[in-house]
Amino acid sequence: MALTTAECVATVVDPKAHADPARLNAAYAWLRQNDPFARAQIDGFDPFHLVTRHADILEISRDNSLFPYGDFPSTLAPHQAVEAGRAAKAQGRPLLYTLVQMDEPDHMKYRALTQAWFMPQNLRKLEGRIRELARQVVARMEALGGECDFVNEVALHYPLHVIMEILGVPAEHEPRMLQLTQELFGATDPDLRRGGDESPEARQMAIQAVLADFFGYFNALTEDRRANPRDDVASVIANAEIDGERISAFDAVSYYVIIATAGHDTTSSSTAGAMWALAERPDQLAKVKADPSLIGGLVDESIRWTTPVRHFMRSAARDTEIAGRRVKAGEWFMLCYPSGNRDETVFEAPLEFRVDRSPNRHLAFGYGAHLCLGQHLAKMEMRILWEELLPRLKSVELAGEAQLSEANFVNGPKKLPIRYVFE
Ligand code: HEM
Repeated sequence: MALTTAECVATVVDPKAHADPARLNAAYAWLRQNDPFARAQIDGFDPFHLVTRHADILEISRDNSLFPYGDFPSTLAPHQAVEAGRAAKAQGRPLLYTLVQMDEPDHMKYRALTQAWFMPQNLRKLEGRIRELARQVVARMEALGGECDFVNEVALHYPLHVIMEILGVPAEHEPRMLQLTQELFGATDPDLRRGGDESPEARQMAIQAVLADFFGYFNALTEDRRANPRDDVASVIANAEIDGERISAFDAVSYYVIIATAGHDTTSSSTAGAMWALAERPDQLAKVKADPSLIGGLVDESIRWTTPVRHFMRSAARDTEIAGRRVKAGEWFMLCYPSGNRDETVFEAPLEFRVDRSPNRHLAFGYGAHLCLGQHLAKMEMRILWEELLPRLKSVELAGEAQLSEANFVNGPKKLPIRYVFE
């Protein structure tokens, strides 16, 4: 089918297209081939470029001083929201100030506060506890008797529990954290968003209301951990100092929000995406069952395959050049990670799911200074789950229609009915 730049741009920004991989991948493929820096001129939005090739996404991500967030938001937002964000920032009252809103020098200072917590050396001490939780998942699947909605009954809860334990949020508050995260990331999905109205204004209001709820909850956590510090990330953040001064309660709460939201939904999506792929490909299930050394490959491939984070934005700090193209200071770029992860110049047969894909240079965790803080944790959780589950999972198939969420920022399966046999 003949496509045009305008049609492909419209597809990439349409939340509904992110629930329709064939349509979305066709648009990305066309853009990579024909217009890899396509200019998007959409009513109500500042113009921006869609960066769809793997090499160009890496090049922009690599240099955080040349391509910062600048005075744009880190994700695609309508002009009105961009202006409101600038005004709030100018008055020193941004809506949220997390690692993914920060440029240097703040970014590295704030990132350093928790980085050691999320490095493999520290995570090793959590391995036993995470394995215990993974075994509970297997037991739960067994108790469900061979049929379940893998997203809602299994995948959403395991990474949620892990990150909330690390952060220090009690188990009884997990359903609230899950709901707020889904309302935030699912603001464009009719089943997940808060409120029924899909207008951009209503969406923006709903996002603000969700953030206000997060703040209400996490303010109390900051106060508690300042009074009674424990061995958890909430205490590290609440009592952290930057340049000799304790960080503000607002900065602490913003930090909780990024960890509490980025820390589970993405991992649940990759886990569910893997189960979906295996349910449709018994040969891949058989391959990884026969050779458990491929579990790392299954994890990497499922993260590439699902690419739960669909984009982040960057802007040019000054005039420059990328891949022979002139770029002007102030231009705005959408890094299209799922497109980079289907780039046929980097991946052989990118539309195939291969547990033994090697090398697998996916960029689902981003790249450069903002490279995902939780990547080692996410991979470890998934590896341990498959180590526990695969020896028991004799077969799995779809038992109904699976569905992806309608969201162009963070996306993943929202329903995955499966039928399975344990051995
Ligand atoms: C499969 C799971 C995950 C995926 C696909 C993913 C993806 C991403 C991406 C694309 C970025 C932006 C990178 C960039 O701009 O270059 C990011 C940043 C981030 N992620 Fe993840 N993530 C995942 C799991 C996690 C987990 C488990 C945590 C828990 C701590 C986490 C915490 C963060 C944080 C705090 C940032 C901001 C880092 C910064 O700006 O310096 N993520 N992630």
